[in-house]
Amino acid sequence: MRPVIAGLPASKIREVANAGLGRSDVLAFWFGESDEATPAAVNQAAVASLHAGETFYSHNLGLPELREALAGYLGDLHVAVAADRIAVTSSGVSALMIASQLLIGPGDEVVAVVPVWPNIVAQPAILGAQIRRVSLQVQDGAWVLDMPTLLAAITPQTRAVLVNAPNNPTGWTLTRDEQLVLLAHCRQTGTWIVADEVYERIYFEPGARAAPSFLDIAEPHDRLVVAHSFSKSFLMTGWRLGWLVLPPGLSSDVAKLIEFNTSCAPVFVQRAGLAAVREADAFVPGLVQRLKTCRDTMIPRLAALPGVSVSTPRGGMYAFFRVAGEDDSLAFAKRLVEEVGLGLAPGIAFGDEAEGWLRWCFASRDPARLVEGVGRLSRALGL
Ligand SMILES: Cc1ncc(COP(=O)(O)O)c(C=O)c1O
Repeated sequence: MRPVIAGLPASKIREVANAGLGRSDVLAFWFGESDEATPAAVNQAAVASLHAGETFYSHNLGLPELREALAGYLGDLHVAVAADRIAVTSSGVSALMIASQLLIGPGDEVVAVVPVWPNIVAQPAILGAQIRRVSLQVQDGAWVLDMPTLLAAITPQTRAVLVNAPNNPTGWTLTRDEQLVLLAHCRQTGTWIVADEVYERIYFEPGARAAPSFLDIAEPHDRLVVAHSFSKSFLMTGWRLGWLVLPPGLSSDVAKLIEFNTSCAPVFVQRAGLAAVREADAFVPGLVQRLKTCRDTMIPRLAALPGVSVSTPRGGMYAFFRVAGEDDSLAFAKRLVEEVGLGLAPGIAFGDEAEGWLRWCFASRDPARLVEGVGRLSRALGL
């Protein structure tokens, strides 16, 4: 086996979840998904597709009508994007892996803004790249980017910069100005930007339909690949559907990569995705409103606990916080499961930079679960 594979970290979130196996009393907020099921219209589209006998392969890049619909969806949110720049993938994580396979090879230098969902840095590492981690900084309990540090790390030797915003786990979101500075710099160094924008719709700033996207400011021929997912905005984590936005001219090469990875996303899943995109205006704003209620239920209660530092995330679906004196996040997360049946993700799962922090996914149908969870945390802290 290649040594890099042996060196990959096992999921520390799973390690905490395993501590709660077989216990029905655990309130679990450790995984990055809502407890709300997929909208009925989306399910029905998949069922109808199966009944219609759509059980065959599709084009590598996805159903033409889905690619058209995604182009229309992005064009409505951002700027016009031609459908031939879109590749449908079997999940957001697959979209990101294919982006890495397209751009990154052994020995390449890749810069990643961290802490971040671990898959984003594991994928180029699997391909043999050298990862340079640039950490967000904590200021008054909130995670912020020190732009000069990031720019200094991106040189003409940097093949790609990986940036996820709104960020999992911190909720940090790139501002438009930061995007402009980063894009201008990467144009000079010839560096690819791989932008993970899967949480773009889960953004709570008043009046905004989506977080700032690189698509708003880039030219089609910029070295930019944007990764997307149906998981978060459409409550479709288990369906495994995502997509990439590519510069013109790359789709046929990406089609080859998809052929060798999964060949295509299942057609009935793509039909479900098509129904989701068509229903987006009817569905997404309500979901974001529900998630905002969750956030606003959760954060003030957490912040009120003595010793807890937490800031209000502008995007994403996570409260990222720390408790004074609790510096070993894995041990603390396991203790919370064992002692009070509260399931959270340890910060160390997102990198050493986040040691001592905990991630709490607040996406829940029932905000009362969050209140109960904060009560359990408070009990564990002896408050
Ligand atoms: C930042 C980020 N990107 C991508 C994904 C991948 O989503 P999926 O593979 O479910 O489409 C996730 C899932 O948690 C994520 O948090």
